[in-house]
Amino acid sequence: MKISVIGMGYAGVVTAACLSELGHEVIGYDIDSQRINSLNSFNPQIFEPGLDKLIEKNCNLKRLTFQHIDDSDLNLGEISIITVGTPSDPNGSPNLEYIWKSVEWTTKHLKDNAVLLMRSTVQPGTGDLIESKFCEHQSINYISCPEFLREGEAVKDFFTPDRIIIGGNNSKAVEKVVQMHSGIDSPIIKTKIITAEMIKFASNAFLATKISFINEMAAFCEAWSADVDDVKDGLGLDHRIGKSFLNAGVGFGGSCVPKETRAFTSLASNYGFKSHLLSSVLEVNENQSQIPVRIIQKIFPDMNNVRVGILGMSFKPNTDDIRESPSIKIAQTLSSLGCQVSCFDPISNQKSAEKLGTSVKFETSINNLSQNKNVILLMTPWDSILNTDWEHIYDSMSEPKILFDGRNSLNPETIKNIGFNYVGVGRGISSSDLDSIII
Ligand SMILES: NC(=O)c1ccc[n+]([C@@H]2O[C@H](COP(=O)([O-])OP(=O)(O)OC[C@H]3O[C@@H](n4cnc5c(N)ncnc54)[C@H](O)[C@@H]3O)[C@@H](O)[C@H]2O)c1
Repeated sequence: MKISVIGMGYAGVVTAACLSELGHEVIGYDIDSQRINSLNSFNPQIFEPGLDKLIEKNCNLKRLTFQHIDDSDLNLGEISIITVGTPSDPNGSPNLEYIWKSVEWTTKHLKDNAVLLMRSTVQPGTGDLIESKFCEHQSINYISCPEFLREGEAVKDFFTPDRIIIGGNNSKAVEKVVQMHSGIDSPIIKTKIITAEMIKFASNAFLATKISFINEMAAFCEAWSADVDDVKDGLGLDHRIGKSFLNAGVGFGGSCVPKETRAFTSLASNYGFKSHLLSSVLEVNENQSQIPVRIIQKIFPDMNNVRVGILGMSFKPNTDDIRESPSIKIAQTLSSLGCQVSCFDPISNQKSAEKLGTSVKFETSINNLSQNKNVILLMTPWDSILNTDWEHIYDSMSEPKILFDGRNSLNPETIKNIGFNYVGVGRGISSSDLDSIII
């Protein structure tokens, strides 16, 4: 099949490369010519395991090409997939500016009976609006087929998704999209456009709820000196609950889960009700991201010049995405409170430095980062961070040598035996335990 993908960001490049791997002839379009040039040199400009190799292989096989949208030689094929960004407005409501522009451009160039497939995450109701405004009079068939990839595992997720959701009114177009996925073994749910959109939003809101739920349990664990990790195991072994997304920590980030949860709360007010549950989910998450700040504040009543090292800047390991990463927020808050903040990430140092400016320092290795630090915040559990030589880190730090494990990913006993003052999230170390190390 000839397919075009519009928007070569995280979701778009993965979609384009993986569809070409399935044997389709794919052209990826973007408005950013630098990005297109870089893709044509097999550099996706994003860190996603396996992606660069897939791009190189399929470009060499001439099944994958990249073009700027202003190129004159356009061929959008039988299916055109929209993967442009859908950021939040400051009030939390979704900003569909890129969607409208890309849909207008795409429908202008699509041939009759082609499929316009929405892979970007748009609020329920958007597809029906696009269909009536841009598609019906041009005999273009609109399909909603939301993206569920997890950054860091996006290529794997494309080929082994938990489900494929196809929302559409035209059965031939729905079948064409089923055909586009042939080679992928996964349950397919065919539904109405608005329901497909709702499934995507509801999935992210549910994941956010699970995380905030376990984080609230972690606060109880802290108060009662219980261990949230054992609580997680005890809960997660119940099949009705499941273990995934039950890790206590500094809260969720990234480009999707916070944005779509916020969108629900802001859209609810348009319909005259309040989303009490999701508002609380967001409140818990906001509070969670400030835990390290509260700990440092408690230990150092005067935070001026406390030396803090932040390990991990991306919102999770195996991606360079720093959008809504708790590390970024914490670096900003601590430096505004007078701490000397240094950061290290195996992949996203440069992106983070661009975002944070000169208020924080960036180091090129974990060992450099730890030199003379009073506090280390482990925020993103990259393997290379977890497997570092913690004894060496301990030796290079200054008192009181606090190690805050923001994702509960280290063994507390091992770390405490080295000598660190270890603090996790809901691991039975109550705030009164910190009293002994107040400076
Ligand atoms: N990143 C993820 O993990 C993920 C997962 C699931 C769903 N999604 C959804 O996918 C969509 C894209 O997300 P992303 O993270 O890839 O965004 P992104 O910001 O990384 O990429 C968007 C790309 O679209 C391009 N673009 C903007 N307007 C354009 C236009 N008119 N024509 C052509 N290109 C245009 C931009 O230049 C950019 O390269 C969003 O709706 C997001 O919610 C993302």
